[in-house]
Amino acid sequence: MNLIDQLTQEHQDYVLKLTTLADTIEGIRVNGRGDYFIQTLDELLNPLTVDLDAHAKREEDFLFPRLTERTPNSQVDLMIEEHQVIRALSHDFGQWYPLWREGDDGAYARWADPALDLRGKFSTHMQKENLIIFPLARRVLTPAEIDQLVSWGSR
Ligand SMILES: [Fe+2]
Ligand SMILES: [Fe+2]
Repeated sequence: MNLIDQLTQEHQDYVLKLTTLADTIEGIRVNGRGDYFIQTLDELLNPLTVDLDAHAKREEDFLFPRLTERTPNSQVDLMIEEHQVIRALSHDFGQWYPLWREGDDGAYARWADPALDLRGKFSTHMQKENLIIFPLARRVLTPAEIDQLVSWGSR
């Protein structure tokens, strides 16, 4: 699988996880705290913080510089701005969810509100990448670059 296919697949995976996140938050709103919800959130925490950050970093370090170099007005600057917003929301989830998990009910809105916002922001961001940035990348990257191993830049 090449880099762009990999990034596209990760987008789909994040959308599913963010849907699960929103469903879980709705479940907590209706039913209150519960072990099932906490278990689900525990499983989502790393993918939607550490892994999501690594995904953005792969785009920033590998993909975006090549697009900026080869195409004017490629919207890369906008994508980078959106990454900052997404990172801030993801960071709030990662920072405040563990406190709520340990019993601090006051921390709830501090992670749940950003988490719901993250879903919307990520969804519109990844649509722009899927529909504009990635098709552009397929045109301007060399076949060898597109075939770069997906492990490029991974931890
Ligand atoms: Fe991105
Ligand atoms: Fe992306």
